[in-house]
Amino acid sequence: MKFFVDTAEIDQIRELNDLGMVDGVTTNPSLIMKSGRDIKEVTKEICSIVDGPVSAETVAPGAEDMIAEGRELAKIADNIAIKVPLTWDGLKACKVLSDEGRMVNVTLCFSANQALLAAKAGATFISPFIGRLDDLNLDGMELIADIREIYDNYGFETQILAASIRNANHMSEAAKIGADVATAPAAVIKAMANHVLTDKGLESFLKDWASTGQKIV
Ligand code: G3P
Repeated sequence: MKFFVDTAEIDQIRELNDLGMVDGVTTNPSLIMKSGRDIKEVTKEICSIVDGPVSAETVAPGAEDMIAEGRELAKIADNIAIKVPLTWDGLKACKVLSDEGRMVNVTLCFSANQALLAAKAGATFISPFIGRLDDLNLDGMELIADIREIYDNYGFETQILAASIRNANHMSEAAKIGADVATAPAAVIKAMANHVLTDKGLESFLKDWASTGQKIV
C-alpha cells in the first residue's frame, strides 16, 4: 500500500519523505487554510520535495470553472493530481481532465455507487472518507471493501485512496482490504511505530544494560 501524507506542512512532509515513507501528498482547502500559505506557492514547494502525485483541490462548483482551475493547478508541476469533488459537475470535470491525460483524484466519496461513477469517468484515484463515515456510526472500512470488490470485479484501474484516516488501525485495516493508497496525517503515520510492549521491553533491556557498566562505542 502506498502512503500519501495528508498535509500542506512542509516540515512534516520533509521528515517522512527523508525516511522513504511518502509516496505522494494530498491537500485540500482546509489544509491549505491551516498552512496559512498561498496554494500555488506551497503546492509548488511540496512538488519539489516529493516525486509522487501531489493532490491539489479545485473549489469552483461548476464543471467548466472546475476544469479551468484544474488546468491552472496542473501548471504547477508534472506530478499534480487535480482533486475534484464527487458531484455530477466533478464527474464531468474528471472526464475532461482525465481525457487530457491528467491525474485526477475524485474526493469526498461516501458510497460505492459514487466510486463506480468516478471509475467510469476515468479517475486516477477515488478518495473514500473513512473517518467521516465512522463519525456517523457508519462503517468506513466496509466502504473500502465494497469498492475493492467492485473495482476488482470489472478490472477498473482507478486506485482506491483511503482518506479521512484518523488512527493507526485505519492504516492496517485499509492495507488488509487492499486499498491501493492510504492518505493520513503525519502524526498517524508516525503513530504506526508505537507499541506499549516495545516501550516496556526497551525500558527493561536498558535497565539491565546499565547494570553491566558496558559501552558499545
Ligand atoms: O484526505 C481527506 C482528509 O483530509 C479528510 O480528513 O480528518 O478532515 O475527515 P478529515
